[in-house]
Amino acid sequence: MRTVWTAQGPRVLTASALAAALVWAALAWAPVSAQEPAAGPAAPASARPPVPSAAPAAQAAVPRMPRPNMQAMNEALGVTCAYCHVPHARFKDELDFKSEANPKKRVARMMVAMTADINAAIPAAVLKASAEATTVTCLTCHRGVADPRPLPEILTHAIEDEGLDDALARYRALRARYFGKDAYDFSQATLLAVAQKMVERDPEGALSLMRVNLEFYPASADSYVMMAVAETRRLDDRAAIVHLEKALAIDPRHSLALGYLEQLKQFTKRRP
Ligand code: HEC
Ligand code: HEC
Repeated sequence: MRTVWTAQGPRVLTASALAAALVWAALAWAPVSAQEPAAGPAAPASARPPVPSAAPAAQAAVPRMPRPNMQAMNEALGVTCAYCHVPHARFKDELDFKSEANPKKRVARMMVAMTADINAAIPAAVLKASAEATTVTCLTCHRGVADPRPLPEILTHAIEDEGLDDALARYRALRARYFGKDAYDFSQATLLAVAQKMVERDPEGALSLMRVNLEFYPASADSYVMMAVAETRRLDDRAAIVHLEKALAIDPRHSLALGYLEQLKQFTKRRP
């Protein structure tokens, strides 16, 4: 008996099932091109795609190895079947499950192999028997979302690729959909981290990010301090002082705001 990874989670295998699974593992994840043409001819009407829950008996002629659990993948990535499977050319409203036309399907296949590799390495890494070691599944990394990168990283790239307005629209859309789930970090720290990275080279952008942060967290003293930093980069010390005073109105002992305000006041006094 051995526990192995499936898209759904750990599975205990008997010796014979284990042998079958090993054969499957060797065959099932060969490169796609070796198995099927990328855009093969449409299947004849008699060879309609099997429904995922098709009884094993229907496939008895060719020993069929278990395929990754599709429903579990849907849930782990927060998607529907159409995320990886293209519409069927002939049967309207149906998906062509055999087609390899959607590159997401190829990614998913490699993710299955990658996840199996990770699980093979875990027991040795944590010095546990394989039955006791934690099993990584799609959900471990994906947390119900297709793009598992941390939110600050997603936003920083979105700002570079799409511009600030679209990136902020993305933030709002993600927040509306995922807030309260274990998907992305929507705490005030996220937009602060993104603003911190860009405040030197794009103080206006950092100011826009902080306005959105204050919309969701009106008592974010840190956001006002970041706005003060941005204003000094724009050489507007007076505006910076106003922001620091707002930060201190919220948190009178905010040490960064206190120190910064002191500095700015000295500096403006010394100026002619
Ligand atoms: C994250 C991507 C992804 C999602 C979402 C997904 N699938 Fe799949 N599906 C795959 C991959 C990859 C394969 C090929 C697995 C293999 O090579 O054994 C596959 C294969 C299949 C097959 C077998 C096709 C064949 O070659 O005979 C069926 C049927 C299927 N999926 C149904 C579904 C259904 C139904 C859903 C929604 C509940 C779904 N899939 C969701 C990636 C996905
Ligand atoms: C160890 C962490 C990890 C595990 C486990 C994992 N993934 Fe991923 N997956 C990622 C990362 C990271 C990306 C994004 C990579 C990038 O775009 O740079 C990704 C991207 C993807 C994408 C492409 C998303 C897109 O919209 O382009 C698919 C599809 C996917 N994973 C499916 C799966 C499936 C199915 C499983 C389970 C069999 C799985 N992943 C398990 C980390 C993981």
